[in-house]
Amino acid sequence: MQNILEQLEQRRKIARLGGGQARIDRQHKKGKLTARERIDLLVDRGSFEEFDMFVEHKCVDFGMAEQKIPGDGVVTGWGTVNGRIIYLFAKDFTVFGGSLSETHAKKIQKVQDMALRNRAPIIGLFDAGGARIQEGVAALGGYGEVFKRNVQASGVIPQISLIMGPCAGGDVYSPAMTDFIFMVKDTSYMFVTGPDVVKTVTNETVTAEQLGGASIHAVKSSVVDVAFENDVEALLQLRRFIDFLPASNVQAAPTLPVIDSPNRLDNALDTLVPENPNHPYDMKELIYSVVDDKDFFEIQPSHAPNIIIGYGRIEGKTVGFVANQPLALAGVLDSNASRKAARFIRFCDCFNIPIVSFVDVPGFLPGTDQEYGGLIKHGAKLLFAYAEATVPLVTVITRKAYGGAYDVMSSKHIGGDVNYAWPSAEIAVMGAKGAIEIIFRKDIGDAEKIKAKIADYEERFCSPFVAAERGYIDDVIMPHSTRRRIANALKSLIHKSVETPWRKHDNIPL
Ligand code: HXC
Repeated sequence: MQNILEQLEQRRKIARLGGGQARIDRQHKKGKLTARERIDLLVDRGSFEEFDMFVEHKCVDFGMAEQKIPGDGVVTGWGTVNGRIIYLFAKDFTVFGGSLSETHAKKIQKVQDMALRNRAPIIGLFDAGGARIQEGVAALGGYGEVFKRNVQASGVIPQISLIMGPCAGGDVYSPAMTDFIFMVKDTSYMFVTGPDVVKTVTNETVTAEQLGGASIHAVKSSVVDVAFENDVEALLQLRRFIDFLPASNVQAAPTLPVIDSPNRLDNALDTLVPENPNHPYDMKELIYSVVDDKDFFEIQPSHAPNIIIGYGRIEGKTVGFVANQPLALAGVLDSNASRKAARFIRFCDCFNIPIVSFVDVPGFLPGTDQEYGGLIKHGAKLLFAYAEATVPLVTVITRKAYGGAYDVMSSKHIGGDVNYAWPSAEIAVMGAKGAIEIIFRKDIGDAEKIKAKIADYEERFCSPFVAAERGYIDDVIMPHSTRRRIANALKSLIHKSVETPWRKHDNIPL
C-alpha cells in the first residue's frame, strides 16, 4: 500500500511540474506566474479541487508519442472565491505553449459542463498558442466543442476570461464569446494570427504589442474590459470583481454587509454641475458619491471614456451604472460609447442586475466619420439594449438630455421605471442656440432678436419642468439626496416583473 501511495505522490509531482523546471523558470523570467501559481492566488486558500491531472494526449504524429506530459497543458477544476464556488481552467504555457489538443479540449469541456449544470461561474486563465499544430483537425474539433459550450452557457452563468500570456487562434475566440475579458499589460497579447503570420500574409511588420497588446485591446479595439499591471493585480481584482456577480441567471448577486447609510446626503453634489452649461465636470464624482463605500469597479475605463460603465453597490446589492461623462467629448454618444454601454446593459439584464443611468448628453456625435462607421446601427444597439431590458431601470438626468439621446438614455418612454432630474436638467430637442438658429433661420442677421429668442427658449425648454409637467420625469430631486432617492427607487422595484411575448430571441442590430 505504502508503495502505491508513494507512486501517486510521484505521479502528482511530475504532473505539477508541467513542461519542466527550465520552462517554469522561463515563465518567471518573463514576469509571468505558472498556471498553478495563478490558481493559488485566485481561489480561497486550500479550496482548489483539481480534475484530470493525469490526462494525456493521444497524438502520435511528429514524434508526439514520446512527448506526453500529464495534464496536457491545462489545469482544471473548481474552488471557491470568497466562499462562492467557481469552476476554472488555467492554460499551462510550459506544456506545448498551452496549446489545445483533443484531450486538453475535453478537460475544458468537462468543467464547462459542470459549471453550467451546477450553475456556477466559469473562469478561464489564458496563456496559450491556440490549436495544437501537431494535432490538426482533432484540435480544431476540440475548439468547436468549447465554443459551442461558451454559447450555451451565455446568459446562464457568468463566463470570465483573463488573458495572461500570448494568445492566438482559439485562445482568443473562446474568450471573445465570454462575458468579460481582462488582460495583463506587457506580458499578454491577443491576436487571431501572430506577427510572423502577419508578415508572411500581408508583409506588414508589427510587434506583438502593436498587434494585440493591452494598449490596443483595452483602448482601441475594446476587445478587453480592463488591463492590469501584472498577474497578481489581475487575479486579486478578479476576486473583487466576482463578488459583484450572481452565480447564475436565477440567483441574486451576494448582498454584502454595509454600514454606509442609504440616507447619506452629499452636499458637494449641489455644486457639481457648473453654472456655465458648456463647462465639463467629472461624472465619476456622482458615481463615487452614490455607491456604498466609494467602491466602484469600472469596466472599459480606457475605451470610449465619454461613457462610464461599471458596478457598484447600494445597500450592499450590486447595481450596474451607465453614465455619460462630460469630461470626454462633452459626454456625446458615438459608435464606440453606444456599443460599450449596450453590451454592458445586456449583461446586467441577463443576470438581473438593476441599472442606474446618469444622463448628461448633448446628443449623438455628428459627422461623416461617425455616419460612415455605422453610428445609426451602433446607436440602435444602445437603444435596443435599454428598451429590451426588464431589470429595474432608474435614471437621473443631471444636465443635458438632448434629442434622440434623451430617448435612448433609459427614458420613461423606452422602459425607465423611475426617472428623476436634477434642477439643472435641460431636456430638449437640442441646445438653445442650435434650436433658434434653425427655427428662426430668416432672422439670423438680427442679433438682438436671436439673443432674445435664445433666452426665451432657455427659459421654456432648458429645464426639467416641461418633462416633469408631462410625467416623463417622476420628480425633480435635490442633488444632495441622490443616493437616498436611488436607494428608495431600487427598493420599490425589487419585485419588478415584466411579461414579454414569446419569441425565440430578439434580433438586436449587431
Ligand atoms: C503546438 C505550440 C503552439 C501550438 C506554441 N507552441 N504554439 N505547440 N501548437 N499552436 C509551443 C512552441 O513550439 C514552444 O515549444 C512553446 O510552445 C513556446 O512557444 P514559443 O513560440 O517559443 O513562445 P513565444 O515566442 O512566446 O510565442 C508564443 C506564440 C507563438 C505567439 C503563441 O508560439 C505562436 O505564434 N504560436 C502559434 C500560434 C498559432 O498560430 N496557433 C494556431 C491558431 S489556429 P517549446 O518546446 O520550445 O517549449 C486556431 C484555430 C482555432 O487556434 C479556431 C479559431 C476560430
